[in-house]
Amino acid sequence: MPIVKNFFIGLSNNPFLNKAAKEIGPMLGANKVVAGNTTSALLNTIERLNNKGITVTVDCLGEFVVTEGEAIQAKDQILEVMYAIYNHSLDGHMSVKLSQLGSEFDLDLAYRNLREILLKANEFDNMHINIDTEKYDSLFDITQVVDRLKGEFKNVGTVIQAYLYKADALVDKYPELRLRMVKGAYKEVDTIAYQTKEDIDENYIRLIEKRLLNAKNVTSIATHDDKVITHIKQFIKDNKIEKDQYEFQMLYGFRTDLAEKISGEGNNFCIYVPYGDDWFSYFMRRLAERPQNLNLMFKEFMKPEVVKKSGIVVGTMTAFGVASALIYRLFKK
Ligand code: FDA
Repeated sequence: MPIVKNFFIGLSNNPFLNKAAKEIGPMLGANKVVAGNTTSALLNTIERLNNKGITVTVDCLGEFVVTEGEAIQAKDQILEVMYAIYNHSLDGHMSVKLSQLGSEFDLDLAYRNLREILLKANEFDNMHINIDTEKYDSLFDITQVVDRLKGEFKNVGTVIQAYLYKADALVDKYPELRLRMVKGAYKEVDTIAYQTKEDIDENYIRLIEKRLLNAKNVTSIATHDDKVITHIKQFIKDNKIEKDQYEFQMLYGFRTDLAEKISGEGNNFCIYVPYGDDWFSYFMRRLAERPQNLNLMFKEFMKPEVVKKSGIVVGTMTAFGVASALIYRLFKK
């Protein structure tokens, strides 16, 4: 269903909608997949998950950073959350995006912000800092920054997007880093990325297996795909991969029962917890991956407080939502 996927990826990149959505706070179903916009709501979520034996990686949402002030504000928010996690003795680490630290207009600023985060993380029990991967255009910047930092810090890692042809070389390049393995969430052209689900899944499994056999650090298997998970669990068993060499990861609000089951079987499990007001782009990418997630959105539409609070903004989004639902139904057949 590439049209549906492209449609939601298009929305995720719309600065007007992102800005408008930020002003009204997480809604339209996003509040089911975003852990609120206050530190106390976030800490409650982390504590609840920790009590089930699940650790977290927190994403302070925000991607459309265009000024130095915004990048510094984003860095300060990340430091604040790190401090709160450490101060409350919670089990969690951070996932950050270079773009939120300023890389789109000043890569060195993003590097300096990230370095400050890593220095602080060292004071907080060497808290792990993961650099999320974004659209392909930014991959070179990400690897450049990782290369600059990995000698100085042991607690920095990044993400491999298995849809990229380059993913194989990156798995080989970073055996010593903690790496998260994902299929890839953005729309990329066929000169740089596999396009079909079959090809992506095949490469994803192949790279996870290669990584599990050769890595010198934790491999995070980040997927909601039960077929992949079942396959990899068997691979881990057959190859006697030690428990501390891998973990499974899922996004907050998705497949909670499955997450708890895998964790209950004795596997390390980490939930990716997005937090904050800048929810729109994140939520649209989740709709692009799985249009069934539209259910989350429609359940919210009719709530009077939603309409009252957001007026024209939600009106616009509702129109987009209805249009997307129609497109989805059309192509589902
Ligand atoms: P996919 O979407 O291919 O689904 C496969 C099958 O799983 C479905 O057909 C269905 O059977 C089942 N399934 C999936 N979701 C379900 C649900 N909610 N309920 C029931 N069944 C479901 N991307 C990126 O580019 N950079 C990054 O840094 C990250 N970071 C990241 C962190 C974490 C923790 C996760 C889980 C994912 C990311 N991603 C990411 C996103 C990733 O690239 C990918 O887009 C999504 O995880 C969707 O792909 P899946 O592997 O989950 O399965």
